[in-house]
Amino acid sequence: MEAKIENPQLRALDIKNQILELTKDYYQLQFNQKKDFREGDRVNYAGRFFGEEEMTNLVDSSLEFWLTSGRYTDAFEEKLAKEIGLPFALFVNSGSSANLLAFMTLTSPLLKDRRVKRGDEVITVAAGFPTTVAPIVQYGAVPVFVDVSLPSYNIDCSQLEEALSPKTRAVMVAHTLGNPFDVKKIKDFCTKHNLFLIEDNCDALGSEYCLDGQWKRTGSFGDIGTSSFYPPHHLTTGEGGAVYTKSSLLKRAALSIRDWGRDCYCPSGKDNTCGKRFDFQLGDLPKGYDHKYIYSHFGYNLKASDMQAAIGVAQLDRLSLFTKRRRENWNYLYEGVKDLEEWFILPRETEQAKASWFGFPLTLKKSKQAHFTRKNIVQHLEAKNIQTRMLFGGNILKHPCFVDLKKSDPDSFRVVGDLKITDTIMEDTFWLGVYPGLESKQLDFVIEEIRRFTLSH
Ligand SMILES: Cc1ncc(COP(=O)(O)O)c(C=O)c1O
Repeated sequence: MEAKIENPQLRALDIKNQILELTKDYYQLQFNQKKDFREGDRVNYAGRFFGEEEMTNLVDSSLEFWLTSGRYTDAFEEKLAKEIGLPFALFVNSGSSANLLAFMTLTSPLLKDRRVKRGDEVITVAAGFPTTVAPIVQYGAVPVFVDVSLPSYNIDCSQLEEALSPKTRAVMVAHTLGNPFDVKKIKDFCTKHNLFLIEDNCDALGSEYCLDGQWKRTGSFGDIGTSSFYPPHHLTTGEGGAVYTKSSLLKRAALSIRDWGRDCYCPSGKDNTCGKRFDFQLGDLPKGYDHKYIYSHFGYNLKASDMQAAIGVAQLDRLSLFTKRRRENWNYLYEGVKDLEEWFILPRETEQAKASWFGFPLTLKKSKQAHFTRKNIVQHLEAKNIQTRMLFGGNILKHPCFVDLKKSDPDSFRVVGDLKITDTIMEDTFWLGVYPGLESKQLDFVIEEIRRFTLSH
């Protein structure tokens, strides 16, 4: 009898399909068992929200074992750019890396006279996340801090003109907790003074703003937008982030800076895409020096892995559902506490905007502080297993890193006005989760505990 000769590739494919089928079963058993919420169960402020597609994509990618950026990265970048309404997106390994890359892109020699140089100024806010500001300081440009407004928690645009100087080159700010900043005012200001705009969109993926009658996604209005895909964010790849832009020049600079600073743009594992690999004469190098090893920027390696991108490809299909759930949960909390306005400043969505909220912020009114402090209510909620968060750094200038910088190099940043609202946020603001994993039972419990505590003090 003839022995059966097995084709190893077909056998491998068969094994892979079995693994993927088993992964689906595993997901259902391990992650998709409905548990009824009971008082005292943890109410997280955020968390991963994923289905079997994310897990099968991840396993599929790991079995391919390409590891670095590859076909899933290409697919993710293309899908993300399309989602935001821009031609280019680059996947990186975190939101902080995205901010670093976005800022450093503005320093590229490709931008000629418009490039940001050391000593140039960048307008930003102190009430936010540290890595929106860190790249400016690290490069030796000068962050200029203006205050924020309540109840939007966003940059106070009335201070922009005062912040301006002949050295101003850019504005770099976040859409706080998903609530779009006043895009119209910022855009007009940037256009008037020929400034770059970086939108830190890390907490706002899916938010929209209506500019000149057209609704568009936040992150698409400025020169560059950034995202974070760390698990609490609007969608996750584990660690991960992205920069996106409509400018092919900025994309070229960003790609180079992301990928070691090289001039060559061949994808990982490919050579000679341009067909001129040994024909260039750049810098003071000999003619024909291998383009793969020619550096036009002082770069980094900020790439992420294809396994992360594989998760992202599946997550992107859920973005509109996530946005809907975030908005619904935010509205639910709002309805539940809106009559507590005597105690709290309630958040308000920016005009002409549809926020995909990252959280529900509350700021305790000064007049009520004789009754209780933020610490009191936050500790009460945490004791009830309800997770709370501060508005990140509160006032970043009060942190050891800036206190130290002020001592060692007092001219390395500038402050406009007294940052009064920023300090209020540092002292009196906290926020609660609205992520898609929260359901009405959990939100009811959160509302009940806020009400019980507030009304009994
Ligand atoms: C506004 C903002 N920018 C940047 C980041 C940094 O993102 P990552 O944690 O992915 O580095 C965060 C993180 O939460 C953020 O909230």
